[in-house]
Amino acid sequence: MRRLLLKASRNPWMARQARRRRFVQKAVRRFMPGETLDHALAAAHQLADERIPSVLTQLGENVDSSADVARVVDHYCVAVDRSLAEELDVQLSVKPTHLGLDLGEDVCRTALARLVRHAHSAGVPLWIDMEDSSYVERTLALYHDLLRPGAPLGVCLQAYLHRTPDDLAGVLEAGGTVRLVKGAYREPPAVALQGAGAVDAAFLALGRTLSDDLAQPGRVSTFRHVLGSHDLTLLAEIPDGPEIQMLYGIRRRDWARVVEAGTPFRVLISYGEHWYPWYVRRLAERPANLGFLVRSMLPGLSVARGGR
Ligand code: FDA
Repeated sequence: MRRLLLKASRNPWMARQARRRRFVQKAVRRFMPGETLDHALAAAHQLADERIPSVLTQLGENVDSSADVARVVDHYCVAVDRSLAEELDVQLSVKPTHLGLDLGEDVCRTALARLVRHAHSAGVPLWIDMEDSSYVERTLALYHDLLRPGAPLGVCLQAYLHRTPDDLAGVLEAGGTVRLVKGAYREPPAVALQGAGAVDAAFLALGRTLSDDLAQPGRVSTFRHVLGSHDLTLLAEIPDGPEIQMLYGIRRRDWARVVEAGTPFRVLISYGEHWYPWYVRRLAERPANLGFLVRSMLPGLSVARGGR
């Protein structure tokens, strides 16, 4: 089922169909507050009331014109300005292909550099997401190019990739900051570990490396490494230090407990019109979510939001 869903996430015909169907739109709302920046900021205010800061990410990937790239950067600059004006504690998380990586590394580097300058001048940290394995080399090259000592710029690494232990060593050596996740794409055995047990073991080992790094004397920890996961059993096995980040709408009922325990914690809020591939990857992570999709198709049954 996971393989099928991940294949479906790349199907343009299914994307068009899904975006037209109201029941799909209804089910998507479980994972995102809406399609606009206003929706995202309203959700960030609600979380702030619960002492939970946010990460904002506008959904979109594989843009194919420089004009679109410029629009994405402009949008994020407005998101930074509005968050600052509204006194929200936010970070940004961006996908390289949303910033033009398919158009060339130079296009993406220029766009990212403009966004990093704007975000950092406002004191807003920025994360670079990691997409499928065909982009990893170029994403890390961009990250290393843009990394400056002490600047809050982080990169996501995926525990399932065979190359990640080496990549992690390289990023730590360069003084960078990492958000570790299990990995959300369909990857072949030559590239990635297969099976939950192997991926969990890799996540645990890499997560412990991040904790050790933060425990080093003199390590500045204001912008710290992150474990991006909802796997509370696994997270409990990694010593304190890294921040935990979860996705909006997932394991909602556990958030207060994590905050109460004093663990640094943030919720990543995704929003935007281009939700189809991202939403199907969320279904693939937990095929039981298909139940919500089916229920939102049936009149008279409400779709639970938040939850878990
Ligand atoms: P796992 O999938 O084992 O889930 C553990 C438990 O969490 C499940 O048993 C279930 O209870 C709950 N859960 C998890 N996913 C759920 C879902 N979709 N719906 C409902 N419940 C769910 N990936 C990537 O490749 N590149 C990236 O840049 C990022 N960025 C990123 C940022 C942040 C902040 C997070 C939290 C995650 C990502 N990811 C990502 C996604 C990541 O790779 C992974 O696919 C998901 O986090 C799911 O894996 P878990 O670690 O939660 O474990």
